[in-house]
Amino acid sequence: MSAATYPGPVLEVRGLTKSFGAVQALSGADLSCMRGQVTALVGDNGAGKSTLIRCLTGVQPFDDGDVHFNGQPMRLSSPTEARSRGIETVYQDLALVEDLTVWQNMFLNRELKRGLGPLRLLDRRRMIAQSQAHLERLLVNMPPVRSRVRRLSGGQRQSIAIGRAASWGSTLVIMDEPTAALGVRERDAVEQLIARLRADNIAQLIISHDLEQVMRVADTVWIMRRGRTVGHWRTADITRERIVAAITGANGSDPAARGDRL
Ligand SMILES: Nc1ncnc2c1ncn2[C@@H]1O[C@H](COP(=O)(O)OP(=O)(O)OP(=O)(O)O)[C@@H](O)[C@H]1O
Ligand SMILES: [Mg+2]
Repeated sequence: MSAATYPGPVLEVRGLTKSFGAVQALSGADLSCMRGQVTALVGDNGAGKSTLIRCLTGVQPFDDGDVHFNGQPMRLSSPTEARSRGIETVYQDLALVEDLTVWQNMFLNRELKRGLGPLRLLDRRRMIAQSQAHLERLLVNMPPVRSRVRRLSGGQRQSIAIGRAASWGSTLVIMDEPTAALGVRERDAVEQLIARLRADNIAQLIISHDLEQVMRVADTVWIMRRGRTVGHWRTADITRERIVAAITGANGSDPAARGDRL
């Protein structure tokens, strides 16, 4: 069965473990993401969310556990490999190159060429036009594609990084705290973008500390505590207060302990 028609989860993670020396960053992380759905991953600082993303996308190797992508086992060894499978990620520490322009960042490692053989040249005009078209469709308040990233505000950089992921991510788009640095208008624009990708049937995984946002945009929420998954629910079936209780493991109010998960 081709990847595009596989009816199961796009991404399925079971029992992932990862340690850094004596620090056990992941000690049994589970997760699954469906096409056309927004999956939120929440947990306190240091719970292991970013580590999980980096292990999934080939930035870091994991120690143990299973990852399936469109039903097939997957263990990536570089972010380039992830991109070639249609997985795009906006990392928490943004990966834009400051000394390049917006359009050069859009086409980083994917440069368009023109001409034939040894005389192939970068097709600047086409890359500029396509960057403009892609970003214009996705972003409000877009900076000129010829401006250097160094001159952009934090919010504009974040928007460009997200716009790039949304332009290329054909199967799964992962965003690690996509709106943490943004103003209200830019945050709303990102949430509209999330809704559009959802309508385009793309699977999205979003890490957020903003639980109001999680309730607004996500279909399901997975909760991590100290390196492991402690529960997952449909957002329609859980309250913000119960998510907080699961994140902190608050005494007796831990919904994970009651087994009433999704
Ligand atoms: N490269 C590394 N070397 C050593 N320890 C690390 C490394 N990366 C992460 N850790 C540790 O792993 C644990 C999980 O960190 P991680 O960044 O995944 O948390 P997080 O859930 O993303 O937190 P936050 O919400 O603050 O971003 C922390 O204890 C962190 O210090
Ligand atoms: Mg993090």
